[in-house]
Formats: sequence, structure tokens, C-alpha cells
Amino acid sequence: MARQSLQEEMTALRERALAAIQAAGDAKSLEEARVEFLGKKGVLTQLLRGMGELPPEERPAVGKWVNALRDELAEALEARRRQLEQAALAARLAEEAVDVTLPGKRPARGSLHPLTRVLREMLDVFTGLGFEVVEGPEVETDYYNFEALNIPRHHPARDMQDTFYITENILLRTQTSPVQIRTMESRRPPVKIVAPGKVYRVDEADATHSPMFHQIEGLLIDKGVTMADLKGTLTAVAHALFGEDRGVRFRPSYFPFTEPSAEVDIECGICRGQGCRFCGGEGWLEILGCGMVHPNVLRMVNYDPEEVGGFAFGMGIERVALLKYGIEDIRLLFESDMRFLQQF
Ligand code: PHE
Repeated sequence: MARQSLQEEMTALRERALAAIQAAGDAKSLEEARVEFLGKKGVLTQLLRGMGELPPEERPAVGKWVNALRDELAEALEARRRQLEQAALAARLAEEAVDVTLPGKRPARGSLHPLTRVLREMLDVFTGLGFEVVEGPEVETDYYNFEALNIPRHHPARDMQDTFYITENILLRTQTSPVQIRTMESRRPPVKIVAPGKVYRVDEADATHSPMFHQIEGLLIDKGVTMADLKGTLTAVAHALFGEDRGVRFRPSYFPFTEPSAEVDIECGICRGQGCRFCGGEGWLEILGCGMVHPNVLRMVNYDPEEVGGFAFGMGIERVALLKYGIEDIRLLFESDMRFLQQF
């Protein structure tokens, strides 16, 4: 082999090898290039083997050159390998990248049940007036639900509230009024509480009745409390709940545990007192029962009616919700229909 052509051949080989390495697009083709040029049966090995045929004086130079080329190719392989690795990593990062600026999917957010909203609003009004919130049991004895409230057995007033009895003496409370008794039994006057909770009555469910509903009871006992205090307090409550511009009226009524007793009406928000379908032509809507605590009730809890007295009231929470939101059927409040509830 002439010296000139050997050198040309070696230069061409170098270029071919470097080009193959550069052209390798992935680990597999890069490995193929390595095997082709640096492998045991590769081009360089064969070249070294063929050195025996060279004239002895040329061997050292060619050997040196082959060794240098092997190092150069090894380096080029390593460089290309790193390049491919980095490109693969960059591609993966690009593919897996999360665009944190994209608007997210909002989780569906619940809202308060209309009864909860109304209850909280009512309690806000009462606590704002200085009433303390207390609670009592839903399963009651005949004594607290009736006897102590001046409703003896066989008293016709028991028919006002059809009762779920558990035994002869244990029942589901028909009103929150037993909490009045429990509270007065456990403290001395002055007393100023409201007691929210569930009550139960044997009623067929229809647009205005439900066998379970909620009341807020109120009780204020102190020295020198008068009907004027009752009127002022409940007028302020009605205005806070329904708006200052709504008319409020007190009608004489009857409850065994208050004397005198009254019911409070609010001017119909739809017709403003003219009479419409919503108020049944009345122009007014009843919102609560109230009265001055009966002396018999005070005696039952060992309070002296000569010394202290006060007023009590009970209002239906569903009723307030229906009136405030113009809901026409109480059953909507208990059916958990999302189309209804999502409006609040
Ligand atoms: N407990 C009565 C009812 O459920 C309401 C009421 C409470 C009336 C307190 C007067 C005083 O109808």
C-alpha cells in the first residue's frame, strides 16, 4: 500500500466514523456505530491486524495514528451519547411539563342549606340582642313537654299538637318550649336564652306540614319585665329578619303556658298587605307565637311570680325560610333536590 493512499484511506475512515457517530439518532444506532468502528471485529481492529503487512518503518506511525483515532472516536461516541441523553431528557420534560398557568378544574363547592342559613341569621339577631343559645333533648318526658308547661293530662290543649309517643311518658318533643323549663330549673333569674332545635308532630306531609320541623324558642325572665318589652323585642327581631319597612302586628291568641298570649304577623312581602295568593288573601303572614310566662309555669320551677316574670316566644324556622325566600312548599326543604339547593 503506497504511503499516500494509506493516509488518504485513513483520513476517509476517520471522517466516515465521525459522520456515523454524529448521524446516530438514538442509543441503538450509536451502539451500532461503535461496534462497526471500535468493536472486536470493527474497522480499527482489522486495521491493526493488517499492520503486519506494512513495511516495518511505517508500523509505528500507523499504530500511533490508529490509537489516536480510537481515542478520538471513543470521545466522540461519549459526547454524542451525552447529547442524545440530554435531548431525550429535554423531550421528556417538555412532554411532562405542567402548565401551572392553565386555569384549573374547580371542585364543586357546596353551599349552606337554606334552613341552616336562616337559622344562623336568626341566631345572629338574637345573640345581637344579648340572648344566649342553649339546647335541649329531642326525646322528652311528658313532664317537660306538657305538665310543666301548664298542660295537664287530658287538657284539651294537648290536641293542638299531635304527639309521637315512645312510651306513655316518653315522647318526641312537639315544641322547643320544654327547654324553657330545663333552663329555669338549672339557673336563677335573670334568664335570657334562645333554644333552636327539631320538633316532631304527627302530621301528614304536605305543602305546609312536615312531621319534623325546627323551632327557635326564646325566654326572658327578670324583675319588672312587661308586655312592652315583649313587643319591642319581637318587633325588632321581625324587622331584622324581614326588613324595617315590613308591617308587624300582634294578635291575641292562646297558649297554656303564657298569659296573655299573642301571635305575631308580618306584612306579606308580595302584596304588601293587599291580599294575594301567597298570603291566602290575608295580607299578613303568621311568624311566631308568644306571651307573658304563665305564673303556674314559674311556680313549677320554683320561681316566685310575685318577684320575677318575663316573656317567651317560639318561631318556626321553616316558616321564616319559606317567607324570606318565597318558597311555596315546605317539602322542598327536606327533599335534598340539588336543583333547589344550588340556588342558595
Ligand atoms: N310552643 C308554641 C308552639 O309550638 C309557641 C310558643 C312558644 C308560644 C313560647 C308562646 C311562647 O306553637
